[in-house]
Amino acid sequence: MITITTPYSNLTEQTKELAKRWGFHYSNTPDEPFFLQLTTEHLQLIQPGKNSPGPIYIDFSSGQVAHRRRFGGGKSQTMAKAVGLNKNSELTVLDATAGMGKDAFVFASLGAKVILMERSPISAALLSDALQRAAIDEAISDIIERMSFIYGDARKLTLEKRIKEVEEVSLNHTSIQIKEVPDVIYLDPMFPHRKKSALVKKEMLAFQSLIGDDNDSDELLSTCLKLAKKRVVVKRPIKAPYLNNQKPSLSMNMKKHRFDIYVTSATKTN
Ligand SMILES: C[S@@+](CC[C@H](N)C(=O)[O-])C[C@H]1O[C@@H](n2cnc3c(N)ncnc32)[C@H](O)[C@@H]1O
Repeated sequence: MITITTPYSNLTEQTKELAKRWGFHYSNTPDEPFFLQLTTEHLQLIQPGKNSPGPIYIDFSSGQVAHRRRFGGGKSQTMAKAVGLNKNSELTVLDATAGMGKDAFVFASLGAKVILMERSPISAALLSDALQRAAIDEAISDIIERMSFIYGDARKLTLEKRIKEVEEVSLNHTSIQIKEVPDVIYLDPMFPHRKKSALVKKEMLAFQSLIGDDNDSDELLSTCLKLAKKRVVVKRPIKAPYLNNQKPSLSMNMKKHRFDIYVTSATKTN
């Protein structure tokens, strides 16, 4: 179980509430290799030590994510084309492996309604914190309004009449219901063989060592193929095998990644 702490005495109660909500252990003297820390600015993941990537937190307002929103190529970027946002910006996209929410934010900034789903309580807590902060930033609040978040395992997704709120959903639920059929489901599961190089990678590696590889994503693809109205898009390292060894309808290649697109519209009646 991961520990959560705060260096600010006036944030102790809030930190204890977060511990309760996400199932973390509260301590004011953490000595684990990783711990979460609530500051006056945000919730962050700390890995003390020499090779630490520095605090990891999610920030939709500035830094890399904001830069990508302004200069990332908009609707002509490959990722937007893979999802279909270049032709129709009013899609509902379910990002079933939300992680740090970076890709989801790109989809929402291009006009899509995005449902983010994440099963790791650490990522979920960081995401939830970032979404709350971003919702009151006037520059991006309209984008954040299009984003909703579900904490849970996407392999348990079923389509039902209503969406459950974060507080209601736990990983023990046998099914998680969503109220609307997503046009597109986007998957970017952790892939085991990432090598260390740039800082961004270091950040990713820190996450990966904590959250673990997503070795069950073959199963996730099967679930999503049954749910998506138009397509399932899977982001893979360029040389990685197809998820579930299932050949996609088409692939779009980038330098290091490719997007495998599984068209589902022909077989769906909803
Ligand atoms: C590589 S990260 C995704 C990064 C993300 N695309 C971004 O832009 O920040 C993969 C994430 O998917 C989550 N994940 C994997 N399988 C999942 C599942 N079945 N349900 C929910 N989340 C899942 C993992 O916990 C991890 O945080």
